[in-house]
Amino acid sequence: MNIYFLSLGCDKNLVDSEMLLGLLAEAGHQLVFDEEEADAIIVNTCSFIADATDESVQQTLRLAEYKAGRCKALVVAGCMAVRYGEETLEEIPEVDAIITPDEYKSIVHLIDKLSGTRNNLSELPNKQPADESDYLKRIPATPQHFAYLKIAEGCDNCCTYCTIPSIRGRYISRSIEGLVSEAQVLAKKGVKELILVAQDTALYGKDLYGEPQLHVLLQKLSNIDGMIRLRIMYCYPEHLTDELVSEMANNPKVCHYLDMPIQHGCSSVLKRMGRQGTSEDIKTAVTKLRDAMPDIVLRTSIIVGFPGETDEEFDELLQFIRDIRFDRLGVFAYSREDGTPAAKMKGQLTKAVKQDRLKQLMRLQQRISAEKCQALIGQELEVVVDGYLPADGIYCGRSFMDSYDVDGLVFFESDRELMAGELCRVKVTGGSEYDLKGELLP
Ligand code: F3S
Repeated sequence: MNIYFLSLGCDKNLVDSEMLLGLLAEAGHQLVFDEEEADAIIVNTCSFIADATDESVQQTLRLAEYKAGRCKALVVAGCMAVRYGEETLEEIPEVDAIITPDEYKSIVHLIDKLSGTRNNLSELPNKQPADESDYLKRIPATPQHFAYLKIAEGCDNCCTYCTIPSIRGRYISRSIEGLVSEAQVLAKKGVKELILVAQDTALYGKDLYGEPQLHVLLQKLSNIDGMIRLRIMYCYPEHLTDELVSEMANNPKVCHYLDMPIQHGCSSVLKRMGRQGTSEDIKTAVTKLRDAMPDIVLRTSIIVGFPGETDEEFDELLQFIRDIRFDRLGVFAYSREDGTPAAKMKGQLTKAVKQDRLKQLMRLQQRISAEKCQALIGQELEVVVDGYLPADGIYCGRSFMDSYDVDGLVFFESDRELMAGELCRVKVTGGSEYDLKGELLP
């Protein structure tokens, strides 16, 4: 059967999509890229804030139109299926079924049933999430030379603004053996860079092994033949361990790069956000990282306009960002989400105030980023080629400083043809706020 699959939301959701595609392919189904050719359509949705839910609804409505043609089954998977599953079934009658992450093992049964290949819904197995063997079958949707590795599911933090623990449940680490096996399979398919993701990567292993084990996992992954880079995303500063910092500093395959979402830089706001640390704790974590790795690139994300955020607290945030000078920074306006403690807090701010603060912080970061890019001129970087832009006749790639999709690129020319995934040395000759230009070195 022909299946059209749309994956929305974050990289962790993308890994789920890749695993579901692997299960469907193993059962003999074909993936198609044209909705009109699909016998079944699956949309793996995101729903962590209202904008993401809107996008998921819009895409589901768009895909629902194909039910008038060849498509026999429209299935909504992922986070909107958990958060608004009943409403989705009621309000979009073209949706035949929802499937939540704790039922992913049933995807093939569900599709077969809906498309008429199996007729008895009671044949569906009881709720079962995917297991390690299912992840071994995943079909990466990223370019061949890198892949995300989802090392844990769920979240144990209690941030007062966040819906994800209620959608994805408690933090559950995957086993080291399972992850190493998955990475070995990916390496055989040509993956050279692994981007480790979870809601909080620093906590990896604590539930399974009693202590955080990200440093051990990094050691094991770095021994895999053909793996040249490991990159860590979403590491909470409160959970950063000395062992992890030391592994990052001493293991040449681990990028001196860390995505560390801090959400705010003012302790009173952090407290209302339910974060475990203060702004001083964040500064201590940053100092520890920079002492161990002077070239480390730090990425973070910030929420502006949290309930009750005063002008003084926002100024404190700006000063904190001026002091720390993160290399990369994403800013989000606070989104009031049903069912979260923050939604009930007093002092909800207007959209205009939130947007104004977002712009102020973005302007500040643009200046910092531009200064940091300028400071790189003249340096030599090891760049992994991501692709070629025929219209401009240039190649683009990423150094250790840039993760896929969220950071900038290095652009450069080459007389000889380069392959995606190839490592080359590039001398930086210029830069904007986010991207760099360079010259290929022999
Ligand atoms: Fe969205 Fe679910 Fe990821 S809510 S951000 S797809 S964990």
